[in-house]
Amino acid sequence: MSAHAGLEAWEEDLLKRYPEEQNECTVSDDGTFRDYESNTRPEVREFYRLNHRYQTLEFARQKKDKYLKFDQRRMTIWEGLEFLDQLIDDSDPDIHLPQIEHLLQTAEAIRHDGHSRWFILTGLIHDLGKILCLFGEEQWAVVGDTFPLGCRFSDKIVFHEFFQDNPDTNVAEYSTRLGIYEEGCGLNNVTMSWGHDEYLYHVMKDHLPEPALYMIRYHSFYPAHREGEYNELMNDHDRQMFEWVRAFNPYDLYTKSEERVDVEELKPFYDDLINEYLPGKLSW
Ligand SMILES: [Fe+2]
Ligand SMILES: [Fe+2]
Repeated sequence: MSAHAGLEAWEEDLLKRYPEEQNECTVSDDGTFRDYESNTRPEVREFYRLNHRYQTLEFARQKKDKYLKFDQRRMTIWEGLEFLDQLIDDSDPDIHLPQIEHLLQTAEAIRHDGHSRWFILTGLIHDLGKILCLFGEEQWAVVGDTFPLGCRFSDKIVFHEFFQDNPDTNVAEYSTRLGIYEEGCGLNNVTMSWGHDEYLYHVMKDHLPEPALYMIRYHSFYPAHREGEYNELMNDHDRQMFEWVRAFNPYDLYTKSEERVDVEELKPFYDDLINEYLPGKLSW
């Protein structure tokens, strides 16, 4: 597997797990993805194995300490998008869709459906946190389904069995339904597995409306927004805001197309939009 192929492999794989036509049932009666999992390519399986093995509460805390200082770079949104596009250089050409194209296709589909300007902007930037790869992070620490740490790993998380090798599984305090949390404590008090979602949320925290921040922070939290898990950690406000997360998800999953987007033609519209909410250089 080339250096960043896992980034796209994971997303391609999400489409197999959650096909747009939902007649294909990917979930077995026992609530697992058994059939889907047995048909998964070895490199995708390996990606999940590493993710589930190494995403511990301590790991996520360390990454937050490191990256939430925002001392990596100063970049505008466009510079960030161009920087992110370097990711495709060494990835598998067979499955490649430049990151910027996925982002523009997502944004354009949202725009096409007549949504608010901040919603369109969210489509444009939602994966910018993947620049963590260019800061030297492994793919399994950048993408993948996200999940809470410090409590049991839901058995509806894909490839749940790989959590057997996660050291947190052997910490009694982290292994109960609520773990270190209180019932209904709210997701803002929950440490999520580390990745592009959590990172970008913190970069954008002071700049975008709250629904946009939820979409960014929880768009890979498939165990919750698709599987309905971890309700016990949510409060009513989270549940309301997850309507937005669910509204966003189809644009992320089902707008990938081989049809090229004309970046130069679209740029003036997006320049205006960026200047409205996120002008100038931001700290990454
Ligand atoms: Fe993403
Ligand atoms: Fe995405």
